[in-house]
Amino acid sequence: MATREWWRSAVVYQIYPRSWMDGSGDGIGDLPGITSKLDYLQWLGIDAIWLSPIFPSPMKDFGYDVSDYVDIHPIFGTLADFDALLIAAHARGIKVLLDLVPNHTSDQHAWFKESRASRDNPKRDWYIWRDAKPDGSPPNNWAAYFGGSAWTWDETTQQYYMHNFLAEQPDLNYRNPEVLQAMLNEVRFWLDRGVDGFRVDVIDRMLKDDEFRDNPMNPNFQEGVDNPMFSQMRIYSENRPGIHGLIAEFRKVFDSYANRVMIGEIGYSVDPTLIAGFYVENDQHLIHLPFNFALILLPWNAKAIRDFIARYESVLPPNAQPNYVMGNHDMPRIASRLGAEQARVAAMMMLTLRGTPFIYYGEELGMENGDLTPEQYQDPQGINMGVSRDYERTPFQWSAEANAGFSSAVPWLPTAPNYPTVNVENEKRDPYSMLNLYRALLIERRMLPALTEGSLTLIDSPADTLVYRRDHDGQALLIALNFSRQPVTIPLTISGAGEVLINTQLDKTGAIDLSALQLRANEGMMIKLG
Ligand code: NOJ
Repeated sequence: MATREWWRSAVVYQIYPRSWMDGSGDGIGDLPGITSKLDYLQWLGIDAIWLSPIFPSPMKDFGYDVSDYVDIHPIFGTLADFDALLIAAHARGIKVLLDLVPNHTSDQHAWFKESRASRDNPKRDWYIWRDAKPDGSPPNNWAAYFGGSAWTWDETTQQYYMHNFLAEQPDLNYRNPEVLQAMLNEVRFWLDRGVDGFRVDVIDRMLKDDEFRDNPMNPNFQEGVDNPMFSQMRIYSENRPGIHGLIAEFRKVFDSYANRVMIGEIGYSVDPTLIAGFYVENDQHLIHLPFNFALILLPWNAKAIRDFIARYESVLPPNAQPNYVMGNHDMPRIASRLGAEQARVAAMMMLTLRGTPFIYYGEELGMENGDLTPEQYQDPQGINMGVSRDYERTPFQWSAEANAGFSSAVPWLPTAPNYPTVNVENEKRDPYSMLNLYRALLIERRMLPALTEGSLTLIDSPADTLVYRRDHDGQALLIALNFSRQPVTIPLTISGAGEVLINTQLDKTGAIDLSALQLRANEGMMIKLG
């Protein structure tokens, strides 16, 4: 039997490089900074890091506007710094994943500069150019995610180009096979260099409608309530038929190397069938781990989450590896959304469900949203749409020293006000801290194959609680989570002895009465059965 792929048992830790550790003293995090702190990650017990983009970029969207796919932005360091990071991470058993942004480039990328130079440039068709309507208006109604039309007029060549995000992020034209080959070569550059895989940005959005039809407006959209980003249903400007075949071409490149993983950012959805559809089509392999954002989108409600897990588990194709994401660089901090106590319940859930968990940097400390005034916004989504992602991008909180120990200079975004208490140094010393909870859960994952390889069975339980079993080769675990701020008793029909391995308050271990399991307010428990 083939050996089990590493990413099936792994826990991935997302680093937003600008904000994690500044080695150069300019107030912006960098690669030498990351390398200098790998011992922390090894101590914590994660298996892989995913770095948000580190490539040359004008930083209009903080690196998600790449102007050269095969180099490092000087702010972050050099290729030599990257190689040093890769070697140092691998020496500690930590895999390194990069962020690929194939849907669009920066407008400063050499490809786009050529494309916009003239209508007969050989790279003209590498991007999406269309004539204006007779009245001069854009070719259709497509809206950009970051505000305004998805079309920008080019004076020189008298045509519009298309962009799903900022005007400085023109979308590539994957209906031209040269574009695909060019992008796959950029992927090979990094896979040859030894990276263990990629998280692929908006992977489902690479193909647009071949007839450029108008998008319908979203009938459920509430002006002034919903994020203006969702006023339109983007059924024609992204995710068109043929996208699976295109993704399969990327996957083939990953499969031509040993032990690499492809993670795909697909549209935020609570529809498990949609997520499940991105693993495989007929016999064609697509994405190893299509992101599941349901835990971000669903209300923090035990029943809603239970129902989702049941449906997700039931629609996944054979051998498909589930995954769970609760936080990232685009979404508010978990502790701000759920409160500090329930964030601990969420941590236990994320690290004990069946699937590959993704931890966004700082969640292991219980970091909260930063405190920013609109004048301090740097994120274009915040500046244009009022929904700033800067709150979840504030500097990592290493210590109570100046600038949270992140940098000797004033950081590019202000440190969150709670850094004097919520920081690595403090939490390492506090046996009951969030950091020690994460670490203890990560140690359990390494010791208990039931957590990484076991089956998952949901068990009926009272309202506001979520209970499930993980079973592997005679090893049986019960996880019971109390989503409420009230104590609860869970009647169980499990016979035999139970032993608490860990609870979210980190104050209980040992034998327990299983017939009427008592959980305190906001308590989660992992119990060894038999
Ligand atoms: C999704 C990324 O996560 C987000 O940060 C970025 O702004 C857009 N894609 C555009 O690349």
